[in-house]
Amino acid sequence: MIQSFSKVNKVSGTLSFLGDKSISHRALLISSLANGKSVIRNPSDSDDVKSTIHCLKELGIKFELNNNEAVVFGRGFRGFQKPINPFNTGNSGTTARLLAGILSVQKFESVLIGDTSLSSRPMQRIIEPLKQMGVQIESNEGKLPLKIFSAKNLKAISYTLPVASAQVKSAILFAGLHLDDETDVIESMQTRNHTENLLDLRVVKEDEKIISTVSKNNYPEANEYFIPGDTSSAMFFIVLTLLTKNSEILIKDISLNPTRTECLSLLKRMGGNIQIEEKGNSNNEVYGNLLVKSSDLSNVKVDSEIIPLIIDEIPILAVAGIFSEGIFELRGAAELRIKESDRIKAICTNLSKLGLDVDEFDDGFRVSGSIKKQSEPFNSFGDHRIAMAFAILSSLVDEGGSIEGFECASISNPYFLKQLQAISS
Ligand code: S3P
Repeated sequence: MIQSFSKVNKVSGTLSFLGDKSISHRALLISSLANGKSVIRNPSDSDDVKSTIHCLKELGIKFELNNNEAVVFGRGFRGFQKPINPFNTGNSGTTARLLAGILSVQKFESVLIGDTSLSSRPMQRIIEPLKQMGVQIESNEGKLPLKIFSAKNLKAISYTLPVASAQVKSAILFAGLHLDDETDVIESMQTRNHTENLLDLRVVKEDEKIISTVSKNNYPEANEYFIPGDTSSAMFFIVLTLLTKNSEILIKDISLNPTRTECLSLLKRMGGNIQIEEKGNSNNEVYGNLLVKSSDLSNVKVDSEIIPLIIDEIPILAVAGIFSEGIFELRGAAELRIKESDRIKAICTNLSKLGLDVDEFDDGFRVSGSIKKQSEPFNSFGDHRIAMAFAILSSLVDEGGSIEGFECASISNPYFLKQLQAISS
């Protein structure tokens, strides 16, 4: 589907977002592990989170989904029903990797599959630590499908993450949650910490390392959750507001988890007028309101240490970068090549269509020059964040623009078009 966007002249109003995708996946998994009824308010309605619900149903979990609430009837410690079908994790890397951690400790065999994009993404990064725990796994050369055998003689491990990945960390923590002894996951770069927050794990910082510890003692009980709005989905509208004249929006009850707000800090350093008001927290997840106003932005150096904390926002940051004073350059982000698409290639290909000067590197890109008129549609590369980033770019230029394959936006935000319409004039 080709979706056209025309220039937005002014942005105004208030937006709220359904729950953060990363937190929603985890609240659903944890509620399913607990014994009895948990209530999740404001869960994400994204296709990715639907993939998690679909897989949990395969394990015998019952859900009541209505009024922006999910009621989950968890089956307790090793209480899952043996699955009949392979687990189809769709496009969702978080579903595949976190669920693999949980399935690794079950007394039955499971098979995990995914769509074409997910089937080309690396799974060796979770297979390796899970094998160290004693899990027997077969894969297609380190990719999906994964076959996980019935758990026998598992052991707790201490594992230093070779890649900065919250998904790998969480897969290990979910497996370790079933063992008597303590499992430690050691990170040298901070990644999002929602699993630790929702399970209320012990996390210590020692000599520049972050150590998260889990054991059966942390096994969850049924609970109530409020999922703060999805920060990564909000970022598209934040950038649009900053870069549109005479504009202002209020974003309500958004996640302000410090491992997710680095992109806001970066936009503020670029000159963005963003006021942040913390309102509260639910299960250690902080949330609050943002007031965003039109601003003149200038590019700043992006340190590679913050890359894991802005990884999902890089497509929209690149858009912010080309409308900001100076050259936009980003390095140390090779992980972008193995996301839902090769995001370095996707961003560079689309930006080149504007006649900008684009240098592509193995681990990033540099963009300079000015936009020349273009009429060719941008390609989404089947990647939701590329689709939405270039929809915002199209809304910022006089001649507008169009995106081929825009429908994939529903992977994280099925309401993007409605929200854009609601705040634009
Ligand atoms: C996620 C972690 C990140 C992120 C993904 C969601 C999570 O992936 O890019 O969209 O929910 O844990 P990695 O952990 O693989 O970097």
